Amino acid sequence: MSDKATLEINGEKHEFPLVKGTENEVAIDIKTLRGVTGGVTTIDPGYKNTGSCESAITFLDGEKGILRYRGYSIEELAEKADFLEVAYLLIFGELPTQEQLDKFHADIKKHSVIDDDVKKILDAFPKAAHPMGVLSSLTSALTAFNPSSVNVDSEEDMYNAIVRIMGKFPILVAWTMRKKKGLPLEYGSSSLGYVENILKMMFKHPGEDYEQNPILVNALDKLLILHADHEQNCSTSTVRIVGSSHAGLFASLSAGISALWGPLHGGANQAVLEMLEAIKEDGGDTKKYMAKAKDKADPFRLMGFGHRVYKNFDPRAKIIKVAADEVLGDLGIEDPILDIAKGLEKEALEDPYFVDRKLYPNVDFYSGIIYRGMDIPTEMFTVMFAMGRLPGWISQWREMRLRKEPIGRPRQLYIGETSRAFKAISKR
Ligand code: CMC
Repeated sequence: MSDKATLEINGEKHEFPLVKGTENEVAIDIKTLRGVTGGVTTIDPGYKNTGSCESAITFLDGEKGILRYRGYSIEELAEKADFLEVAYLLIFGELPTQEQLDKFHADIKKHSVIDDDVKKILDAFPKAAHPMGVLSSLTSALTAFNPSSVNVDSEEDMYNAIVRIMGKFPILVAWTMRKKKGLPLEYGSSSLGYVENILKMMFKHPGEDYEQNPILVNALDKLLILHADHEQNCSTSTVRIVGSSHAGLFASLSAGISALWGPLHGGANQAVLEMLEAIKEDGGDTKKYMAKAKDKADPFRLMGFGHRVYKNFDPRAKIIKVAADEVLGDLGIEDPILDIAKGLEKEALEDPYFVDRKLYPNVDFYSGIIYRGMDIPTEMFTVMFAMGRLPGWISQWREMRLRKEPIGRPRQLYIGETSRAFKAISKR
């Protein structure tokens, strides 16, 4: 293969280098495009063909269903590592030694506290507020209480901002849920593991000890690992682009949380459960909803199906499907919603519409089912996704800063009015 791509515009040829990634992916480097062509730009809505950066964090191959963090397969990480180890791997590039992991955890624990005034902000939200809005606001508000995390220029500043947010974020997640459930706010315990602590902060009842259930710890650990990074998706690109203006880590994360909220992205796990519930309320007729999903005149889509990148199967969905069966089996949960989910899955996998378009269940088809089994309110599902994605966002933000990437500023093709004279209001 040639190492150049040639572009011909109005009879003039321009050459652009082809660059290869470590997995042999090929990209046309168009950094000089506008300069050499006198301002010609590219148009790529949704960035379906555009690489926004070079990254050494996550590799995925949507055709083959491969997902690797820093070279390690998601299957192996989900089986052998815990969430904090994976967070360290993503952020710093290598699996930690025991000593490195202990130090990372100890530094995080030092910051597992939140200024009491943040409670007043939380209190001011109506109970009905969507937890993603609350989480995004509180994450942004943390900037005011931790001003040293705003201007981060050295690696040391970055490290401090990272362990701060790794310590504080689970508290915000837990408090957001407790507010929703009307429970008093709780802190965790420094003797617990990172994931055990999240569970305790979320579920401890006042006046009672919280007993850890290893099945739930294992399921949450896996869920968080599976969601931890997914290269340049909508929320991660948001974190990178906000961070590229040198806005601080917390502000960048807050923007990422807002991006994740949407039902086409992280909000899909909530949308899946709401869809399953609606089907149940409507008599459980899955065929009717399959028909709606296929009808182009109907805006209804089968939530939890399809993926921008995975076009054969979502490797995360495979792992999580097994975990879902384990959790529900072990907890002895029988849920009519589950039967509807299984029915839809079976029908979609055999339906030519879904098969031809390569629409398979994605990770969010199953994650909501587990969260429901864990007694997490439906509106909190996307918050749990954010909890898992935190180390991914952090690692992408850190990489962007260390590589000294320029400010993100896409171009456009203007299709509006050309220059025209102003018309006085009386003449319009
Ligand atoms: N139900 C019915 N039809 C669908 C669906 C669906 N869930 N997803 C895609 N299609 C159809 C779509 O109408 C189009 O048909 P046609 O070619 O006839 O016009 C074709 O499949 C291609 O769809 P697309 O919208 O061009 O694909 P995309 O890559 O732009 O969108 C997606 C990917 C995930 C936004 C989309 O599949 C979708 O809306 N899925 C439901 C929402 C969902 O589950 N999102 C979670 C994604 S995984 C979590 C995450 O990473 O955030």
